[in-house]
Amino acid sequence: MPVILAIESSCDDTSAAVCRDGEILSNLIASQKIHEQYGGVVPELASRAHIQNIVPVVDQALTKADLPLSAMDAIAFTQAPGLIGSLLVGAQFAKSLAMSLQKPLIKVHHMQAHVLANLIGDPKPLFPFLCLTVSGGHTQIVICESPYKMEVIGETIDDAAGEAFDKSAKLLGLPYPGGPLLDKLSKEGDAKRFSFPEPNIPGLNFSFSGLKTSILYFLQAEKNKNENFITENLTHLCASIQQRIVSILMKKLRKAAEQTGIKQVCIAGGVSANSHLRNSFEQLGKNLGWNTYIPKFEYCTDNAAMIAISGYYKYLKQDFAELTVSPTARAEW
Ligand code: KG4
Ligand code: ZN
Repeated sequence: MPVILAIESSCDDTSAAVCRDGEILSNLIASQKIHEQYGGVVPELASRAHIQNIVPVVDQALTKADLPLSAMDAIAFTQAPGLIGSLLVGAQFAKSLAMSLQKPLIKVHHMQAHVLANLIGDPKPLFPFLCLTVSGGHTQIVICESPYKMEVIGETIDDAAGEAFDKSAKLLGLPYPGGPLLDKLSKEGDAKRFSFPEPNIPGLNFSFSGLKTSILYFLQAEKNKNENFITENLTHLCASIQQRIVSILMKKLRKAAEQTGIKQVCIAGGVSANSHLRNSFEQLGKNLGWNTYIPKFEYCTDNAAMIAISGYYKYLKQDFAELTVSPTARAEW
């Protein structure tokens, strides 16, 4: 019955979670509001906010789990990929705890953890499963054969899906991060009002930068004719953009399922909170006879529960890290 304390600090959320025997007992997240005024995450400010947040967040995770620090069997942390300054705060904290408690340290790959968030709670997907991971920094299709064996079979060649949402929202004058707001406004809009082009990328890879450019040029041309174009059409623009981003994602996921013959299909990452993506995914799964899985909302965006579940499986294999391990901004899969 290993009890694991996990720490996630790869970007702008400071999170701590406790899991016992693969069951999440607590998952606390401190989101950093400071970046909103800058229209994006400012790495140096993120590091400083992690330093301020990490002790209270870990403390609250232990309190919620109703367990003392001495009850932890191992400390898991996000080692890569992410903002290096942010990762360093979590890594140093985890290493210090492991050293002082004399407990093993477990390093976790952030993107693999997003995939394994699907193993939290029930029902769980059966192996092998496909996972479309869509976040602010990544867009990947992964075959997960076991918690220890995952392979990326498709990924973005430029922007991530979350960036496509956030940058489009910015073009519409919406505050950062625009994804959730674009989702909300789309509910009132007509997705068929405007049609944005679909990129023609071979295989299972994605591209979103052309879409962003076409939205930019379209808005410029329309604003030249009517300066109130965006305000008068905001919800329809949101719905049309969202519809296109989601259709690009679903087309490749469908292709991946057809190519591999896998019918256990999951989505993960911050963008899997998008309501149109969730609905389209469920609908596609129904039509094609898939078993579909989406993690609970709090396990979709950055969180330490997914680090804890990944740490749990590594603990079972006694896959521990040296105390000399360093975080890295980029990491091999
Ligand atoms: O996984 P995540 O929390 O952080 C990263 O690892 O990047 O993902 C954050 C991304 C942001 O781009 C945010 O705009 C997007 O997820 N996002 C959404 C929604 N909720 C979060 N995008 C569209 N619709 C949403 N409801
Ligand atoms: Zn993430």
